[in-house]
Amino acid sequence: MKAVWYERTGPAAEVLTHGEMPTPVAGPGEVRVRLQASGVNPADVGRRSGSYRPMEYPRVIPNSDGTGVIDQVGDGVTRFEAGDRVWLFNGQRNGRAFGTAAEYIVLAEWLVTPLPESLSFAQGATLGIPAMTAWCCLFGDGPIRGQTVLVTGGAGAVGHYAVQLAKWGGAQVIATVSSAAKGEQARRAGADLVINYREEDVVAKTLVFTAQRGVDRVVDVDFGGNLATTLKLMAVNSAIAVYATNGNRTPVVPMRELMEKCIALRPLVLFALPQATLAAAQADISKWLAAAPRLHNVAAQVPLSETARAHEAVEKGDKLGTVIVDCAR
Ligand SMILES: NC(=O)c1ccc[n+]([C@@H]2O[C@H](COP(=O)([O-])OP(=O)(O)OC[C@H]3O[C@@H](n4cnc5c(N)ncnc54)[C@H](OP(=O)(O)O)[C@@H]3O)[C@@H](O)[C@H]2O)c1
Repeated sequence: MKAVWYERTGPAAEVLTHGEMPTPVAGPGEVRVRLQASGVNPADVGRRSGSYRPMEYPRVIPNSDGTGVIDQVGDGVTRFEAGDRVWLFNGQRNGRAFGTAAEYIVLAEWLVTPLPESLSFAQGATLGIPAMTAWCCLFGDGPIRGQTVLVTGGAGAVGHYAVQLAKWGGAQVIATVSSAAKGEQARRAGADLVINYREEDVVAKTLVFTAQRGVDRVVDVDFGGNLATTLKLMAVNSAIAVYATNGNRTPVVPMRELMEKCIALRPLVLFALPQATLAAAQADISKWLAAAPRLHNVAAQVPLSETARAHEAVEKGDKLGTVIVDCAR
């Protein structure tokens, strides 16, 4: 098969090689997916650049997420058959060196979810890490019906799905953004209140919106960077779900303040969450997709041979949605 790989970490254009590799074969409990699209997430880029962790395998095919068509099922597989359209996550994760920047991937059937006909392969490849992370942050502490949820970075890949899923879950949603264009994105996703955190007073606007009560949940793209603000707008008995903390990776957490308001902290990385949680997320995302048309942000599409360009686009940091590699061209 054609694939893109790296054998050392470093700049994308220097370390990513496009060439031929043996096509994998599905083992017991596994399916083989003929990939159509591969989603590039910041963590895939961090792993390849070496900023995230040292090389874990001699050779790595990057990227966690993807879509395609099942073309081989291993012994004992019950949920899928050849020809099924699917989306997947945790491709290059958890003991798998070979991710989705390739023509084929083999992985356990539980990591694979049916892809509705209404989504293109590129749209489906934006689900993976972004939609799963959004779901786990939102629902990790129980239902959110009737609650107020603050999504920081409401136009980000994760944030945009968090706004949509929070509305579907019955919450009132506040989203923070840094520009008018991002505000429009968050509004289109269903946010009830959009606040430009660079120009407006997030605490004051949130407290007015919640009649001074504060928010029940935060889905936070920058825990450390936002902490001083966040603590001022939390309701009593609330929760902060943290999926990134790039503004300050080692913040000082005023634990006594959290205790006084009974604020739960839920930091998470998607690849380490238990299978039962991930299965619940997959099931709910399938229901959510089936219930109505949804917004899926494809930031850019490049052919497999230009995967380095896709990594560079994510590295730049100004993508709006998910950068997609087309695995079949
Ligand atoms: N824990 C996990 O499992 C997990 C899963 C997915 C992603 N992540 C991490 O989460 C981060 C975002 O990923 P992504 O793919 O969603 O990136 P993205 O598409 O670039 O979105 C990030 C968004 O957050 C906004 N933002 C940044 N700092 C902010 C702040 N202090 N307050 C409010 N908004 C802020 C950015 O816009 P402005 O800069 O214009 O504000 C941008 O819209 C990355 O670091 C990624 O590695 C972690």
